[in-house]
Amino acid sequence: MSDIVVRNLVKAYTPGGPRATDDVSLEVAEGEFLVLVGPSGCGKTTLLRMVAGLERPDSGTVSLGGRDVTRLPARERRLSMVFQSYAIFPHMRVRQNIGFGLAMRKVPGDEIDRRVRRAAELLHLEEYLDRYPAQLSGGQRQRVAVARAIVVDAGVLLMDEPLSNLDALLRLEFRAELKKIVRQIGTTTLYVTHDQAEAMSLGDRVAVMRGGRIVQLGAPLDVYDRPSERFVGGFLGAPPMNFIPATVERNGDKPVLALGDQHLAAPSTLDEWVGRPVLVGVRAENIEVSTEAAPGWVTATVEVVEPTGAAVLLTVRLGEHQIKVQTAPGFRVAPDDTVWLRSTPEALRLYDPETSLVLRP
Ligand SMILES: Nc1ncnc2c1ncn2[C@@H]1O[C@H](COP(=O)(O)OP(=O)(O)OP(=O)(O)O)[C@@H](O)[C@H]1O
Ligand SMILES: [Mg+2]
Repeated sequence: MSDIVVRNLVKAYTPGGPRATDDVSLEVAEGEFLVLVGPSGCGKTTLLRMVAGLERPDSGTVSLGGRDVTRLPARERRLSMVFQSYAIFPHMRVRQNIGFGLAMRKVPGDEIDRRVRRAAELLHLEEYLDRYPAQLSGGQRQRVAVARAIVVDAGVLLMDEPLSNLDALLRLEFRAELKKIVRQIGTTTLYVTHDQAEAMSLGDRVAVMRGGRIVQLGAPLDVYDRPSERFVGGFLGAPPMNFIPATVERNGDKPVLALGDQHLAAPSTLDEWVGRPVLVGVRAENIEVSTEAAPGWVTATVEVVEPTGAAVLLTVRLGEHQIKVQTAPGFRVAPDDTVWLRSTPEALRLYDPETSLVLRP
């Protein structure tokens, strides 16, 4: 059974104005970790707040654990939430902050103690239990907010950018930690972030949002590998997916992709597109690069060489287009060098240049 079921949620903050969420439907299975990801302003927080009962939808329904809660206030929805701006109480020590939800639920004192200690352990806050928030770093405060949410064991956990105030290194560390913690407690989780790397790393599934709608939902690697539209390919992944305008032509009985005056082997399913323009989507790591000419490869000119340690990222000019290519760390080239590129037809995704939607899923 799905634990969170959202049906056709519509919300406009001003009547008749732009829709913050536009007919969003979504199911989160019991124990699943689902991540909502998308650019700033796409409606993630609004959607989460409607699930929480903090915002009232114009239309649509929310069910939790099979119960329609659309008309129930937040406190009757049996869930816990970590807000985008971590709202912890400045006048309470860490211990009271974490135990707050339990105290509100009239849980006996010794059990609160026990559960607070356990949550503090999970989040490495044991030594800070007697401090006030003002005496903590931003990252520690954020961990208090997470501890307070997981300690109540609500069954459904909603998190809105809980790592946003951590520096890059802490964020990476805490991301892995959070993944472990949520797995341990097995709570159904709906998690919001605008950080695509975080979404990929944490989610059992990710829902990519844009302009108040979910445009693609699936396992992280499926969505990464097969973006349903250009926006998704450009949003997920660093670097983003390359998109190169091309024309489908026929070479004997095989379709090929013409990029300017060069040709690339095309997926054989493109027959009906012969003579028409397409957008070729290809990930930087799916492009093979060589410093020697070979038949069937296309030539490009190196513009920028960026060693990242684990790889070398090249920006190359292919005809009139710039694309990113990822090579092994030992690969040596310099700006203005000529390189040869190819990609297997299976790694190419083809998009309709007019609608930006994928041609071949
Ligand atoms: N209280 C509000 N009143 C009016 N408009 C609002 C309100 N809250 C959000 N909006 C608008 O609704 C849209 C969606 O906002 P929302 O906060 O859901 O975005 P988000 O995806 O969470 O963005 P971010 O990543 O920046 O947090 C935005 O255009 C925003 O300006
Ligand atoms: Mg938000």
